[in-house]
Amino acid sequence: MRDFNTLDDFNLENKTVLLRVDFNMPLDKNTLDILDTTRIERVLPTIKELIEQNAKTVILAHQGRRGSWDFISLEKHANALSNLLGRDIKFIDDIYGEKAKDAIRNLNSGEALLLDNVRQFDDETEKKPAEEHAQSELVQNLYPFADIFINDAFAAAHRPQCSLIGFTAVLPSCAGRLLEKELTTLEKIVANPEKPSVFLFGGAKFSDVIVTIERLLDNKTADKIILTGLPANAFLKAKGVQLGDKTEELLAKEGKPENYNEIKKLLGKYRDNVYLPTDFAQQKNTDRTEINVTELPTQYNLYDIGEKSIQNFINILRDAKTVFLSGPCGVFENPAFMKGTKEIFTYVANADVFSIVGGGHTVAAVEKLGLDSKISHISTGGGSLEKFMMGEKLPVVEALKAAKNRQF
Ligand code: 3PG
Ligand code: MG
Repeated sequence: MRDFNTLDDFNLENKTVLLRVDFNMPLDKNTLDILDTTRIERVLPTIKELIEQNAKTVILAHQGRRGSWDFISLEKHANALSNLLGRDIKFIDDIYGEKAKDAIRNLNSGEALLLDNVRQFDDETEKKPAEEHAQSELVQNLYPFADIFINDAFAAAHRPQCSLIGFTAVLPSCAGRLLEKELTTLEKIVANPEKPSVFLFGGAKFSDVIVTIERLLDNKTADKIILTGLPANAFLKAKGVQLGDKTEELLAKEGKPENYNEIKKLLGKYRDNVYLPTDFAQQKNTDRTEINVTELPTQYNLYDIGEKSIQNFINILRDAKTVFLSGPCGVFENPAFMKGTKEIFTYVANADVFSIVGGGHTVAAVEKLGLDSKISHISTGGGSLEKFMMGEKLPVVEALKAAKNRQF
């Protein structure tokens, strides 16, 4: 028995359900077209189940943040969902006004509609407890139309925002199939990973990774940490390696000066658990050439790990039983610098390990390499996944647990 409700706990026949999903998508900056529909695809089992059970499904979702270029309406999302589902999902360009209410009133059993971007509602992104969010205009206007609230937004589960938790204070609530599956799989990894467990961090961001690594090692969720990408560069810099102007510029843009002291402190505690590259591939003119860490600094961009590092890391991965991949090993979009990511990810996908992949860029890399069917669990989460792996409580999950004990 779970400490929150699931779809198994409710009879949905002719019921109106509010379904909160995470359709926050990577968009093309020029056309604003959706670049990857993974997050929509992963919610399809829940939506199909609701349709099959003759529920009237009202879907809530967000895209982007206020003021950012990818803050757009959800019309394209409704089209993508309709295409993937093979049936028409109506888009309503309203969230809780008369237009939205009329559309909900006219919904037939077995039909679904998508309301507009919930972040158009001013108070959506405020951090508040569920009971306070329940007093908002959004919740007060919509909840009287619904019988049940379903949250299937694992990727936003770390946000205590209005449409994510507010309804749990006023409606019987449960997790959708995606949230349920993510939690069931990831709980096992956090509580009881098969050992040794190796976590690999790469990609183009590093400031948030430092505390994540420390917590994973403190909690014994991770035994060994392999670093590639910008995190590797930052750790080498903290150890006194001069990388060269190009890399220093990237590091200065992404991190803060105090990050290097944090890294030194972390390495003081866990020097033997953190593995760094011993060589890189640099972009000399347009070519890939290898350079040892001992030969640095360089005037060129370091765009991948080198051959020796690839072999070292594969050796470390050889006895692993659990492997977590977060971030590509280099600029894998460029074929000349795909090698590190390709060889490491392919090794992990084919190894006899429980492999977990999370974060948009990592999932994209796995798909580009055609490895998705060989990864044990591909998470839809980025920030939420990281928080969960660190052992932090997720506000969405806590709200669903509280709702299970409430009488409505
Ligand atoms: C995400 O994509 O990380 C989630 O949808 C949450 O979005 P946010 O980081 O803008 O709150
Ligand atoms: Mg985010």
